[in-house]
Amino acid sequence: MCGIVGYVGPQQALDVVVEGLRRLEYRGYDSAGVALVTADGLATDKRAGKLANLDKALAENPPPPATSGIGHTRWATHGAPNDVNAHPHLSRGGEVALVHNGIIENFAELRDELERSGTELVSETDTEVAAHLLQRAYDALPAGQGRLAEAMREVCRRLEGAFTLVAVHRDEPDTVVGARRNSPLVAGVGTAEFFLASDVAAFIAHTREALELGEDQVVEIDRERGITVTGFDGRPAQAREYHVDWDASAAEKGGYAWFMLKEIAEQPAAVADTLRGRLTDGGEIVLDEVRLSDEDLRDVDKIFVIACGTAYHAGLVAKYAIEHWTRIPCEVELASEFRYRAPVLTRSTLVVAISQSGETMDTLQAIRHARGQRARVLSICNTNGSTMPRESDAVLYTRAGPEIAVASTKGYLTQLAACYLVGLYLARVRGVMYGDEVSAIVEQLRRTPRLIERTLARMDAVRALGRDLATAPTVLFLGRHVGYPVALEGALKLKELAYIHAEGFAGGELKHGPIALIDDGTPVVVVVPSPRGRNVLHGKVVSNIQEVRARGARMIVVAEDGDTAVEPYADEVIRVPQVPTLLAPLVTSVPLQVLACAIADARGNDVDQPRNLAKSVTVE
Ligand code: AGP
Repeated sequence: MCGIVGYVGPQQALDVVVEGLRRLEYRGYDSAGVALVTADGLATDKRAGKLANLDKALAENPPPPATSGIGHTRWATHGAPNDVNAHPHLSRGGEVALVHNGIIENFAELRDELERSGTELVSETDTEVAAHLLQRAYDALPAGQGRLAEAMREVCRRLEGAFTLVAVHRDEPDTVVGARRNSPLVAGVGTAEFFLASDVAAFIAHTREALELGEDQVVEIDRERGITVTGFDGRPAQAREYHVDWDASAAEKGGYAWFMLKEIAEQPAAVADTLRGRLTDGGEIVLDEVRLSDEDLRDVDKIFVIACGTAYHAGLVAKYAIEHWTRIPCEVELASEFRYRAPVLTRSTLVVAISQSGETMDTLQAIRHARGQRARVLSICNTNGSTMPRESDAVLYTRAGPEIAVASTKGYLTQLAACYLVGLYLARVRGVMYGDEVSAIVEQLRRTPRLIERTLARMDAVRALGRDLATAPTVLFLGRHVGYPVALEGALKLKELAYIHAEGFAGGELKHGPIALIDDGTPVVVVVPSPRGRNVLHGKVVSNIQEVRARGARMIVVAEDGDTAVEPYADEVIRVPQVPTLLAPLVTSVPLQVLACAIADARGNDVDQPRNLAKSVTVE
């Protein structure tokens, strides 16, 4: 997820663009850059690191004046976060500058085509490929109005994946052109000035009149001709006009009260982006930097998943899937405990380290210990360029984009998606699942973003329940099978956000002690497995519900659509869409995130920055 800004109007473009990037820096801060259309051609500067680095460079070496230009803050997906990979990317002759948010899935073949035709690329990014294609398309068109927009349409028709592109040409100082597919782009309509941005936060200080671009649309903002919107096919298209009634700070949160709420809402897109380009129709799974051969992976006879906190809960879910699909023994361990118990590790051991930040010291030290014992390490990480991927033998990046709230939500859900990919990849490489079996699960995975979306659309009752539970002294969470880690995660969310005692239990464990905790009215959240999967478990969980209800508890039941067996014993039923058993945590986790957030909000807590916590724990 990156931040993009484009401007044309009477103001100095550098001021408008850099201020816009500052408003979007939460979308990505691996690097930042600008390109301005000056009288002497394109003036560009781009620096790795936070926007402050670019600010400093621009102050030391101010570009010539310009009243149109583009800018970008990067959250790296392809290529390390360095100066060369920073956006904007220039075409070969430097006539075109382009910024991009998203993933161009077919960039490798397009890159080959360019290199075969003699174009030398200087970065590792998919974006640079689009910049060269754009100039090539532009050069082949006759001079005249709308030339850059037509070139953009031609390029977009060749791209696959998710992208927001915004570009300028040195010969067109009055025009900025943008395009979008599966990635956001909005236009701002000011007085004799126009804006393009990833979201309205970038230009809300100048105008609140916005235009939301639709799927597969190209937009041209021109000093004289205003805004023109077409489809990729060149036919005129409509974009939704709206008035932004948020203030600037609210706009950074997309109008949500908290970043956490925004990030919960981003989960369908984050899971879709994490899956994008990794699941071929033939059931092949494509990992990122796999420096392990298929032979290495066929040699694996034991898997340890290590992580902390929420990432550990993702690992607990992963265990069920990985063991079911690969038939390799899989242990899940707290990273902080792992290396102190002298685990038995050999070259045939695969350690899967899960971390949103890639900097958690407990997990990093565990990785180092594992590698010291000759085990192989695969990292699942959300932060390109962080330490863990550099110290691993293979990496699978989640593509959640920056997660600002301390409480992990989209980071966690994309970790689940990535764990499923790793399990399927191992099963495929080891030949314990046929391509068609993997394809069937791949197809189920591909449907999950929509099911998460549908779950999110049903959360009003959960928010009301959260307000009602704001004064509860304790909340218990029960689950079985993959529902057990979901119960643990639900309890952690409540603890870290609402500062309420909360505890997760395996449903079958209740009668061995914890049931003594049940008092009259104790809220108990139960994550019920699907009756369509292993209904023996479903029946046992319904029994657990009855045991607990008989002792006076307030039963809050998370159950799939159509599961009527739970209704006689539930005080509240939270419905989620039907999902295959192993994938269910992708939807059953969501109501528990929303519930914890609602309770914390009702208690007046700072949801994004809970007390005593940090987003990345870089000490042991
Ligand atoms: C999750 O809500 C917490 N913020 C915390 O448990 C977190 O998951 C844990 O610290 C691990 O962080 P990492 O994923 O960046 O390694």
